[in-house]
Amino acid sequence: MKKIGLIGFGCVGQGLYLLLNSTGYEKAQIKSIAVKSKDKPRIAPNEILRYSADELIDDPEIDIIIEAIDDADAAFDIARKTIVAGKDFITANKKMVATHLEELTALAQLNNVVFRYESAVCGAIPIVQTIDNYFAYEPILSLRGIFNGTSNYILSKIFNEKLEYRVALKQAQDLGFAETDPTADVGGYDPKYKLIILALHAFGVYLANEDVLNFGIDSLNKEDIDFARERNLKIKLVPSIYQIDGKVFGYVLPEFVSEKDNLYQVENEFNGVNIEAGFAGAQFLYGRGAGSFPTASAVASDLDHVVNKRGYFYQKKIKPSTVADDANILIEVYTRFTNEAIQKVLAFENVTEGLFTEDFRQLTGYISLKQLKNVAHILKREKVSIIATGRRKLIGQKTTEKILEQEKRRA
Ligand SMILES: NC(=O)c1ccc[n+]([C@@H]2O[C@H](COP(=O)([O-])OP(=O)(O)OC[C@H]3O[C@@H](n4cnc5c(N)ncnc54)[C@H](OP(=O)(O)O)[C@@H]3O)[C@@H](O)[C@H]2O)c1
Repeated sequence: MKKIGLIGFGCVGQGLYLLLNSTGYEKAQIKSIAVKSKDKPRIAPNEILRYSADELIDDPEIDIIIEAIDDADAAFDIARKTIVAGKDFITANKKMVATHLEELTALAQLNNVVFRYESAVCGAIPIVQTIDNYFAYEPILSLRGIFNGTSNYILSKIFNEKLEYRVALKQAQDLGFAETDPTADVGGYDPKYKLIILALHAFGVYLANEDVLNFGIDSLNKEDIDFARERNLKIKLVPSIYQIDGKVFGYVLPEFVSEKDNLYQVENEFNGVNIEAGFAGAQFLYGRGAGSFPTASAVASDLDHVVNKRGYFYQKKIKPSTVADDANILIEVYTRFTNEAIQKVLAFENVTEGLFTEDFRQLTGYISLKQLKNVAHILKREKVSIIATGRRKLIGQKTTEKILEQEKRRA
């Protein structure tokens, strides 16, 4: 029987401990658990508790390290040491994985260890292994989804119960969905990390954090919500990544979604992923994106793969897609702002709808991804509302029939 060193015993770590006890998993067993604080009451016996992650990594009897701590820098240190020590490694930390994906996958290959991170993307939804394994030989045309339960919970409360943003955020914090500092969730960073991880499995590309545009839901105001409601739309925080003619581009933006879109029905802390594949067509995965047992369930799935020495395929890395030039990607966005100087900053390629009043401007039109990235810091500072309509173009490329069909279906 393999021996596990579990590092971190909070929401995820305890969920895994209880899950393994309850299922009576026979191929591996937790030998030691490392935590930080000596004062907290624990549900595991004292004799297996340790207060140093290194002690577990250095223990020659431990074969597998499972890391579920809340500190991305310390987690990276644990990841490197574990892999270099030749031990298989499972993590739940999306920020750490997304930030160091290229280094860690190379290191794992070099040291011939299995490195898995299913729970880091959409909790219990088996999206990493589905894209990596089931779709290994299938061209992926797009992935779009709701990858962050906290922001989705807030948006659900705003749309379904007419709560104000601040009230909905406070409720999410009181229920333990949102952190005291909610920036990673409501600012669109957390879904961006997940998008970066999926980009490797779906398209074979390593994207850097700073190369992927992310806007959150923190700048949306009542007028934007009313605009959506009047058109029978909802606003969702949607990470999306597209492949057109071998060129890949992705971003995280609030997006208007209509009833015809599967994402319209994804409410509260749930997650959902729309997959558009070249031959299989459209598929939709839906489930719990976080929480103690759902996340532990994804870790347990990784554990069984690791015990059987099954790593990810990374098939798409053999012939990776090219990352598209941002200047050639035009995204249609709705914008709303009070300072008229913002219109120049936005530099629309063309405006498709506009409302000018003495108090504000509300303009919808196509902007290049490059321009949006260049001025994102100004738009965030000025609290400009930015919401994607779901339409986009890749100029200079023969637009594929499939993408046109996809757009028609969603219209
Ligand atoms: N919660 C979810 O639903 C969820 C879903 C998907 C992914 N994740 C990811 O899973 C990871 C863990 O999340 P969580 O919610 O379980 O966190 P959590 O409840 O805050 O628990 C964190 C645990 O890590 C321990 N810890 C922190 N630094 C440590 C260190 N340097 N060495 C040893 N132990 C250390 C803490 O020790 P003490 O107990 O002594 O404080 C605590 O037991 C995060 O990366 C998170 O993003 C969580």
